[in-house]
Amino acid sequence: MILEVRELVVRYGQATALDGVSLEVGEGEMVALVGPNGAGKTTLLNTISGLIRPASGSIRTAGRVVQVPEGRQLFGDMTVEDNLRLGAWRVRDRNLSHIYELFPPLSEMRRRRAYTLSGGEQQMVAVGRALMGGPQLLAVDELSLGLAPLVVQNLAEHVVRLNRESGMAVLLVEQNARLALDICARAYVLEAGRLAMAGQSAELRRSPAVQAAYLGGAVGEGEAVRAPATSPRTAGGGEGGGTAP
Ligand SMILES: Nc1ncnc2c1ncn2[C@@H]1O[C@H](COP(=O)(O)OP(=O)(O)O)[C@@H](O)[C@H]1O
Ligand SMILES: [Mg+2]
Repeated sequence: MILEVRELVVRYGQATALDGVSLEVGEGEMVALVGPNGAGKTTLLNTISGLIRPASGSIRTAGRVVQVPEGRQLFGDMTVEDNLRLGAWRVRDRNLSHIYELFPPLSEMRRRRAYTLSGGEQQMVAVGRALMGGPQLLAVDELSLGLAPLVVQNLAEHVVRLNRESGMAVLLVEQNARLALDICARAYVLEAGRLAMAGQSAELRRSPAVQAAYLGGAVGEGEAVRAPATSPRTAGGGEGGGTAP
């Protein structure tokens, strides 16, 4: 087990953000954490990363956990390369070449200031910066946030490849439940600070409760990866149609 969270309770003042959450990630595993806005997903990641001190419960890690923070959190005025270097402050290997091999477009943009990049490119930098920390567990907070479907798909493929090729475990926090359940074998559903469900993604996808709450009703596989659940679904809607806000 690379991560073992037991009965975690986190409070912000009087408000309880996490109420007895337990969760595990095995070595080399890809696990999804889905749930609506405000469920406590970011709080959980920040507590695992040590940014928040829990009121009670325990967190055990067997390896380095590095987080890709929600909203990327790059230094906009710094270059891509300098942003990447920041990820390596606590490790010895500061060689950027493996990041550029993984994300070739970043190599061409290395001298550009981060704020000039598109959202998807910035997310690549945020993932690359996390990888510079040499994680055994990569905890990604909202990979897809604000990005067009094709861009999300490309990023997701990179994360899956990293997992397969390097054995790095992944905890993927996503509001896009369909994406998360597609690429992670196992998933947890967090609602209002509590685990509502947990299990194999294939089983969760078949659950009527999950379909109703997170998959926009019973829709065909693959279809809604492109279209947000809230957008009107046109019959025979073609490729490239899923970019409506
Ligand atoms: N720094 C904070 N101070 C007080 N309340 C917070 C803070 N951060 C988050 N919360 C509250 O905790 C709950 C969980 O938030 P968050 O972990 O950001 O959820 P999610 O990432 O699932 O959207 C929400 O009700 C949110 O308003
Ligand atoms: Mg969040």
